[in-house]
Amino acid sequence: MPRVSYVNGRYVPHDEAVVSVEDRGYQFADAVYEVLPVAGGRVRHLDRHLDRLGRSLAALAMDWPVARRSLPVILAEVVRRNRVTEGVVYLQATRGVARRNHLFPPDAVPSLVVSAWRQTGPSAATVAQGIAVVTRPDLRWKRPDIKTVGLLANVLARQSAKEEGAYEAWLTDAAGRVTEGSATNAYIIDREGTLRTHPADGAILGGVTRSNVLDLAREMGLAVAETPFTVAEAKAAREAFVSGTTVMVLPVVSIDGEPVGDGRPGAATLRLREFYEELRRR
Ligand code: PDD
Repeated sequence: MPRVSYVNGRYVPHDEAVVSVEDRGYQFADAVYEVLPVAGGRVRHLDRHLDRLGRSLAALAMDWPVARRSLPVILAEVVRRNRVTEGVVYLQATRGVARRNHLFPPDAVPSLVVSAWRQTGPSAATVAQGIAVVTRPDLRWKRPDIKTVGLLANVLARQSAKEEGAYEAWLTDAAGRVTEGSATNAYIIDREGTLRTHPADGAILGGVTRSNVLDLAREMGLAVAETPFTVAEAKAAREAFVSGTTVMVLPVVSIDGEPVGDGRPGAATLRLREFYEELRRR
């Protein structure tokens, strides 16, 4: 079945879904994006993703490319036309097309591209085994809370983690604290049984999955603290995991080659994953 994408008001065959070489997303990464989960053929957690998109657009002084109320219709239509039941829908909004100049073009029209694809996330075996992470310095700019397409530091960290046999890179600040993963948020359950993750204070992307996971953890009766943890604390933790739209909740069993806990996925982590899977199906 041929893929169909949305480009500035038109649904076109994916191969013909193109933007100008002078699009500011291409030239300057002057663009924001969202990756939303699709489950049971429906786009999930829509409000939280659109709220975050609104914050990203506002941070870059960009207008909505279409009215916010139109976006659910476009997203659902791209999902429908591609017959995605389990997967993701991707949207990218750029400041538009203009001759290259750092200044905002006065008359640029924001552009919007939406595509969708099937994706099932990590295999059951990966979940059962857990993943390895390695730490890397967080080399990103100082606004990683804005979901821009300027992801080069994330790309390089993820690639170097893979080359070392790990699934994800955990990014660390100058004080040796873990901010987040290259494309996931990072958590531990410490020696006292407290779920800890870096606060959404500007140094991380506030994941939609993160918000849902923290809600679920509180419902489960876990103590939750949005306080940073160091790499040493993570290595000494009972459990560790990552979260994100494409991975949901994924246990971390080793950090820089050292086992977390007994080197197997933690019980609370697996319970959180089950709760999260149920939330996504609802
Ligand atoms: N990544 N942190 C970073 C740096 C991310 O890029 C992402 C998402 C997350 C998790 O956010 P959420 O729970 O809203 O997916 C955290 C997306 C999926 C991506 O770039 O593919």
